[in-house]
Amino acid sequence: MTKFDFNDTWLFDGRDTVRLPHTAVELPFSYFDEKAYQRTFTYEKTFDADPSWAGHEVSVLFDGAMANAQVSLNGALLARHKDGYTPFEARLTGLMKPKGNRLTVVIDGSENPEIPPFGGAIDYLTYAGIYREVWLKLTAPVFIGMAKVETPDVLDALKTVSVFVSLANPQNLVLSGNLTATLRDPTGRALDSVSVPITGPTVTLGMAHLAGITLWDTKTPALYTMDLSLDTPHGTDNSTTRFGFRSVEFTPEGFRLNGQPLKIRGLNRHQSFPYAGYALGREAQERDAEILKHDLRVNLVRTSHYPQSTHFLNRCDELGLLVFEEIPGWQHIGGAAWKQESVENVRRMIRRDWNHPSIVIWGVRINESCDDHDFYAQTNAAAHLLDSTRPTGGVRYITDSELLEDVYTMNDFILGNEEHGGNRPRTPLRPQQEVTGLKHNVPYLITEFGGHMYPTKSHDQEQRQVEHVLRHLEVMNAMYGDPSISGSIGWCAFDYNTHKDFGSGDRICHHGVMDMFREPKFAAFAYASQGAPEEGVVLKPVTFWARGERNIGGVLPLIILTNCDEVELRYGNHKPKRVQPDRERFAHLPHPPVVVDHRHFTPDELGLWGMTWEHAEVTGLIGGKVVATARFVSDPIATTLQVQPDAETVGRHEAVRVMVRALDQVGNKLPFFPEPVALSVSGAGRLIGPGLVPLRAGSTGFWVRATGVGAIEVTVSSDRLGTKTLQLRAE
Ligand code: GAL
Repeated sequence: MTKFDFNDTWLFDGRDTVRLPHTAVELPFSYFDEKAYQRTFTYEKTFDADPSWAGHEVSVLFDGAMANAQVSLNGALLARHKDGYTPFEARLTGLMKPKGNRLTVVIDGSENPEIPPFGGAIDYLTYAGIYREVWLKLTAPVFIGMAKVETPDVLDALKTVSVFVSLANPQNLVLSGNLTATLRDPTGRALDSVSVPITGPTVTLGMAHLAGITLWDTKTPALYTMDLSLDTPHGTDNSTTRFGFRSVEFTPEGFRLNGQPLKIRGLNRHQSFPYAGYALGREAQERDAEILKHDLRVNLVRTSHYPQSTHFLNRCDELGLLVFEEIPGWQHIGGAAWKQESVENVRRMIRRDWNHPSIVIWGVRINESCDDHDFYAQTNAAAHLLDSTRPTGGVRYITDSELLEDVYTMNDFILGNEEHGGNRPRTPLRPQQEVTGLKHNVPYLITEFGGHMYPTKSHDQEQRQVEHVLRHLEVMNAMYGDPSISGSIGWCAFDYNTHKDFGSGDRICHHGVMDMFREPKFAAFAYASQGAPEEGVVLKPVTFWARGERNIGGVLPLIILTNCDEVELRYGNHKPKRVQPDRERFAHLPHPPVVVDHRHFTPDELGLWGMTWEHAEVTGLIGGKVVATARFVSDPIATTLQVQPDAETVGRHEAVRVMVRALDQVGNKLPFFPEPVALSVSGAGRLIGPGLVPLRAGSTGFWVRATGVGAIEVTVSSDRLGTKTLQLRAE
């Protein structure tokens, strides 16, 4: 199979020539009309048939378009695909003219109630557009349609691999020939090769007694490949499938990866970005996985609430970041045809993604929907039939719901309930059997908590952010302390645009531990600090360090999120205080925070309202050695405009994020610095979003998309902090 980039020169809605991925409407950051993209749009591409395509199967492969796509060639309808989150193909073989073919794609952003997730309210946006890549696919007339690789007995000394292949034969030719499979290790070295004769449209083959195999796990995500080579009298076809040797198990005593217990510490992710909606390509998708793994230090991400970009999943495979993937939906269940479409969504998701070692569970319920025995018996059966190696979950928030899945996956929003007339004291998580209504434990996973129970903006007052941090810590602590819970997945990683019925009226759910630009709020460090110090020391005092930001004044109690053994706080010229992590209150966390409070100070030491405010220094120690320092000044002044790109080079047509921050004299972000910055991009790139933006909580971000190859100049200027220029390169 050969795939050609087919993303260039699409005529969008009869007016602009665009490159895919593309969002039909670039939305403002907030306070927009979410109906702006809820209509039909047309994409049209004119192309000639290359003479070298003769004798081949030719099709156009769409990685994803939102939604209800209808593809025609020269006016004749070729393909329809309702689902906005999975790939589809339009077969062109035999239908093209030599010159001037017109490929037309009509998409519908109107939230058609016949299509999951639509029909009810949903707390996220489904930005219209051909928002993933498109390819021209060329193969021999008989080719490798699907390949599934399974590793049945990874815990044995000698391993086995099974490969299930279905051949595509759209011209109904007589099938004969051979299929050869070659197993390669992570360095590309061939380990084994098997050849089998072809007798029908499906081929199964296996390799056994494999020695020296490295298992895929979160620390060593070893990726093997299975190269397939098909030889028939009609030609040859090749494919490569990447996979890992690993086993997963959810048990009443918790989760196991390769037979070893592992507590899941995860976050939910929406695939949306400011302005561009869903339409950022490979590099931005990969970057999100890196942020989750390296900055937030979680070991699992849930693709709430739909199958996400393959680029994102590929990076999860490479990084050893586990994934909970689920079908599109949000609370609402539609009629019979809608349910049938949803069952199909299960099949499409699994067929697209069954070879990703990172995926450890399939979500086969409409997120937070009510019980529906027949419907969910079908989604579960469909999943189990296609993939016997992974368990199913079905995310719910109702208690006592019927367990048709392998894992009871629960959104437990009990914490904070006491503020809303709930009749129990503050409780991080309910006991499992109270939730399930069962008399025995079952495999159990917390799939959401937090979120709308305590929305927190990055520019919210410090005290609110402290509480935001505490809630994430308390739930994780409860989860770590209960062996019957496989893990918890917080709501959520990043703030996201949403409908008017949700969020803060600004069309944003400020539920992330990072904002929409992926800039951390304090709560991000509640996660990061649970990571092992060998992989990165974390020391984050939850304060802006000001006398009068909190009610009554001062910064106590001061939570310091850290994976150090001990912390020292120096305040002005007072005697330094050494404080250990609070292992009493957070007994189960891998790294409890340090909590400095009034017990550690005499009244005049930290000073009362009316006294002078002093500088401070917080140091983190491991084994008695200083490994991290955080400094605060008592008199912050805006001194520096920091402009920081994620990378200095950006791939062709890809987008790179640039962060802008206003810093004080010791490099701390100024949380209430609101002044605008002007952004401009020239050369081989363009700015996504507006050219004049405010700083929010002392920072903003933007993406630069490469439009060609060569130098890109990025300029950021602030009236007060001056101008910074960056040179990036599009390669
Ligand atoms: C859940 C829902 C999420 C999000 C979250 C906000 O009920 O599953 O999609 O809306 O609430 O806390």
